[in-house]
Amino acid sequence: MTLAHYNLADLAIKAASCRACGLATGRTQVVFGAGSPDADVVFVGEAPGAREDECGVPFVGRSGQLLDRLLEEELGVERADVYIANVVKCRPPDNRDPRSDEIAACRPYLTCQLDLVNPVVIITLGNFASRLLLETKTGITKLRGNNYYYGDSLRHLVPTFHPAAALRGGSGVLAHMRNDFGRARELIAS
Ligand code: URA
Repeated sequence: MTLAHYNLADLAIKAASCRACGLATGRTQVVFGAGSPDADVVFVGEAPGAREDECGVPFVGRSGQLLDRLLEEELGVERADVYIANVVKCRPPDNRDPRSDEIAACRPYLTCQLDLVNPVVIITLGNFASRLLLETKTGITKLRGNNYYYGDSLRHLVPTFHPAAALRGGSGVLAHMRNDFGRARELIAS
């Protein structure tokens, strides 16, 4: 699939009819991504859940509400100022983890989204996005707390926990997320 010459709007149209993996069968709609095409920050989550599958917009459920709050409180921006996407654009059945073949099938879309928006900082939310974009098997608990670069680009990558982990109430998860967002804010300002 050669997507390199697409712009974001055309890419979204192309994704809407994608049947590159089995997730196409169970989805209500493709959740391509949302936000500003000129954003300084791109968030990458895991996969749409039930609410996102219904609405066609990423992070509109409980995790999204927490993300919106952290955006305002730690980055001083609103959702419309950032760009939000997921590793896979279609909801896995019963909210199971995305499989490696599904992630690979969807990867060209994410790569193009990151190239087209070309943010200063990519914030990866949770294990799936962090491992994929840092090309590592190391888990988020060890990865977070440090700043990285995305591939061989000059784009910063700040891995942090998925908001769902903070909602489950793991000890200190929210505090760590605030700290990670704060470092991202410094990178944007620098
Ligand atoms: N969790 C994600 O990773 N992405 C969404 O869009 C919603 C919940």
